Amino acid sequence: MDSHGYSRRRILYASAVGAVGAGGLATVSAAALRSTSSGQKEAPAHLRGAAPLPFIHAISLDLTAAEDRRIGQLRAAHRVVGALDGGKIAAWMALGESVLPEPASRPRHLRPMPAFPGDVLDPALSHGDLLIQFTAASSDAAHVAADQALRTLPRWRVRWRLDGRRPENRTEDGRGLARNPFHFTEGYGNPASPAEVTERATVRAGRGEPAWAVGGSYQVVRIIRLATGFWDRDTLHEQERIIGRHTDGRWLDGTPADERAVFAADPDGKITPLDAHVRRAAPDRRHPPPLVRRGYNYHRGTDDQGLIFCCFQRDMEKGFEAVQHRLQGEAMAKYTLTVGGGYFFVPPPGDGWLDALA
Ligand code: HEM
Repeated sequence: MDSHGYSRRRILYASAVGAVGAGGLATVSAAALRSTSSGQKEAPAHLRGAAPLPFIHAISLDLTAAEDRRIGQLRAAHRVVGALDGGKIAAWMALGESVLPEPASRPRHLRPMPAFPGDVLDPALSHGDLLIQFTAASSDAAHVAADQALRTLPRWRVRWRLDGRRPENRTEDGRGLARNPFHFTEGYGNPASPAEVTERATVRAGRGEPAWAVGGSYQVVRIIRLATGFWDRDTLHEQERIIGRHTDGRWLDGTPADERAVFAADPDGKITPLDAHVRRAAPDRRHPPPLVRRGYNYHRGTDDQGLIFCCFQRDMEKGFEAVQHRLQGEAMAKYTLTVGGGYFFVPPPGDGWLDALA
């Protein structure tokens, strides 16, 4: 990293330490498929709606009960979160690796999130036995639901919690879009069809996963602090070359946002630099990475803001991890610092998984 980039990251790091301790984020779980008034099945909460609800309150919890109470306590959390899910709230939970002590019972790719090169993971913002997540139309509504859940879960201790929001949250041609802290539109790279969302994000049978996990989803949370002050001092032209799209989503070669850019016509990166974010993230436009991103911005003061990056996938190696490895060395790296998050698993709808694990 050049000295300029290094100093940016040092500042990000310095303001990260201590400033973030009590916050928290992310969850996933399986709200059972619910029947709507028209009799249609609603998607599970973590994938519901083309655009996620605009506010989130996410809480990572650790279990304080004895080992023989583990499944009972998971059942309690499942019941409480499930009861709050529906109507104007989408709520779900996701399991951390540490709450599944027997390796044979764990989803194949569930492990503690590693520190990738450049990460400075704050233990007070990382991992957790269980992630519960409440999304709503307002921050207050998300908090009310979260507080209600916590009051009835005395055996779970808060490890960290975090608020997020999606400014300019909307749906366009089936895709949920929002504005990230770098002022760029996010979401065009996601699939437009609900069937493709389910396909990318849902664990299937026959892939070596424990039977109880089929129908569930791997959730990755990355709490990424963004050096917005430095970013804002760069020219728009430079910012667009770092991302690889215009702020409104259009490609740098003029291709409309919802169509495929043809990177093969620009092998040397004259139009879209080879280290641009989207070019690293998805170099082969015909085979997009099999993941679904549903992130939120967080803001805890001018020196402490960024992205609660969140994605769902059926396969961690082909989904998040393949993209994360390709992003090493991207031009955007000097503006970002990942300080927390974790790997979690949203169990499948219903409570059969609890019986299977008991
Ligand atoms: C550091 C904070 C990040 C910012 C500010 C950011 C921003 C963006 C933007 C503006 C786009 C283009 C619009 C869109 O397709 O949504 C994009 C696309 C994408 N990003 Fe990120 N991103 C970040 C982190 C990540 C991470 C950690 C991953 C995964 C490891 C990731 C994976 C992707 C993928 C797969 C696409 C879609 C590429 C495509 O199909 O065109 N991003 N990101």
